[in-house]
Amino acid sequence: MENVRDRKNESVSCGQDDGILARSMESADWMEQVRNLNTEHVLKTGKVRTYRLDVFGCQMNERDAETIAGMLTNMGYERVSPDQPADIIVFVTCCVRENAEERIYSHIGALSHECLKNGSFIVASGCMMQQPHVTEKIKKSFRHVKVVFGTHNIHEFPRLLCQYLTSGKRVLEVWEKEGRIIEDMPIKRRCRHKAWVNIVFGCNNFCAYCIVPYVRGRERSRKKEDVLAEIRALAADGCREVTLLGQNVNSYGNDLGVKDLFARLLYDIEEIDGIDRVRFTTSHPKDLSDSLIRAMKECKKVCEHLHLPFQAGSNRVLERMNRKYTREHYLDLVDRIRDAVPDIALTTDIIVGFPGETEEDFEDTLDLVRRVRFDSAFTFIYSPRKGTLAEKWEQTAPHEVISRRFKRLVEVQTEIATQLASKYEGKTVEVLVDGPSKTNPDMQSGRTRTGKLVNFRAEGDLTGQMLDVKIIRAGAFWLEGREVKRRG
Ligand code: SAH
Ligand code: SF4
Ligand code: F3S
Repeated sequence: MENVRDRKNESVSCGQDDGILARSMESADWMEQVRNLNTEHVLKTGKVRTYRLDVFGCQMNERDAETIAGMLTNMGYERVSPDQPADIIVFVTCCVRENAEERIYSHIGALSHECLKNGSFIVASGCMMQQPHVTEKIKKSFRHVKVVFGTHNIHEFPRLLCQYLTSGKRVLEVWEKEGRIIEDMPIKRRCRHKAWVNIVFGCNNFCAYCIVPYVRGRERSRKKEDVLAEIRALAADGCREVTLLGQNVNSYGNDLGVKDLFARLLYDIEEIDGIDRVRFTTSHPKDLSDSLIRAMKECKKVCEHLHLPFQAGSNRVLERMNRKYTREHYLDLVDRIRDAVPDIALTTDIIVGFPGETEEDFEDTLDLVRRVRFDSAFTFIYSPRKGTLAEKWEQTAPHEVISRRFKRLVEVQTEIATQLASKYEGKTVEVLVDGPSKTNPDMQSGRTRTGKLVNFRAEGDLTGQMLDVKIIRAGAFWLEGREVKRRG
C-alpha cells in the first residue's frame, strides 16, 4: 500500500495547550497550501473545484461534517448538491449497526465509475474508519477512496488532503486513541437559525451491544466557558436554537472533576440573549440527576422534550446490556420528569432481539412502551458489532421471531404516537421554521418546542422565523398546520 501511515497513540503524547495551538496553526498552513493549489486551478481553467458531502449516522457526524465543510470552504472548494458531479466526495460514516455499514460500502462502490469518468475521488471519514478491518477493506477493494481519516484526527484533514493532491498517492491515517479537544476548527454550519454544539465527546459506558465507545473514545468535556462563548457568538449571528451534543450529556464535566456541570450550563445558557430554545441529546437514564430535572423545569428556554433511551423493558436484559438501571428506576424517572414538566414530550430508543431476549422479556418492553406512552421511538433490531461485549453472545431467538417482535413493537408505538399527536389538533403551537418541506416544496416545515415536525402552507420563504401555527391535522410522524401569527 502506498503511503499508508498509522499514527497510533500519537495524540496522547501531544497534550499541552501550546501543542494544540501549534496543531491548529499547522492545520491553517496546510489549508493555505491547498487553497493556493485551487487558486492556480481557477486561474488556469476558470473553474472552481467542488465537493459534496454524504453524511450517515447521528448528530455527532452531522456536526463533524460541518467542520469538514468549513475546512473545504477555507481551502477554496465549493459545495454542490448530492445529485451533481464533484471533484471530492466526502463520506462521514457510521458503524452503529451492520446495515449502516453495508449501505456505506454500497454507496462508495457505486461511485467508482463516476470517479473514474470525472477524475474525482472519495474522502472517507467518521466512525466506521476507526475500525482496522474497515480500512483494510477500503485499501483492498475501493481504490477510488484516496484519503481516509477517523474521528480522532479530523483536524488533520487539510494535511492529508494536501499530501494526496501533491503526491498522487493514497493517504490513510487513523488515530487509535482520542486526543485533547481542539477548539477553533473551521466550521460551515448547515443553517443559521439553529446549531449543534458539542459539549462532551466520547463515551465511558460500554453498553454491551454498542460500538460507539470504541470508535469515539473516552469522555472528554469541553470547558463551560468555551461552550458558552460559542453559543454567544451563535446568538450574535442570528441563531435561535441550540442542541447540545454528547453521547451522554448527563456526564458532562465528570472528567473535569466538576459535579452537576450540565445543569449549571443550562442555567448559564438561559442568560444568553437571542437564544430562544435549548435542546440536548442524549441523556442516559442512569445519570439523569434531580438538579437536571430542576433545571429543565426552571429554564424557560429548555424545550419540553426529552430523548431518554431505555433500550429494553426487562431488568434481565438491561443488566446483560450493562445499562446500569432497572425498569423501575426508569419509570420513576419518567414520573419525576412529568411532575416537573407536565407537557414534556418523551422519545426513546429501543433494541429488539438482544441475545437471550425471551418472549417474556419482549413483553416487558411492550409493557414499558404502553406505560410511558412515548411521543416517538427509534426502534432497532439488534446488530452484533465487532469488538463489543455482546458480539459473540448466542442469539437464541430465530430471525423470524425477532422480526415479528419488531413489527409488533412498531405497531404498538405508532398507535400510541397517533393518539398523542391527535391532542395537537385545534391547538396553536410555536414553530421555528426550518424552510421548505423536503417532501412537499409548496409547504414550509418546522418544529414545535416538543420536537414535533409541522408542515404548513405559506407564501414565501419563512426560514428561521418563529410563528404561531394552528394545527389542523395530526399524524404519528408530522402535524399539518396553518400560520396564524408571526412572532418575529
Ligand atoms: N449515546 C446514545 C445513543 C447512541 S447510538 C445513547 O446512549 O442513547 C443510538 C442508538 O442506536 C442506541 O440508543 C441504540 O438504541 C441503538 N444501537 C446501538 N448499538 C446497536 C446495535 N449494536 N444494534 C442495534 N441497535 C443499536
Ligand atoms: Fe453506546 Fe451506551 Fe455509550 Fe450510548 S451510552 S453511546 S448506547 S455505549
Ligand atoms: Fe454512528 Fe458514530 Fe453516531 S457509530 S451513531 S455516527 S457516534
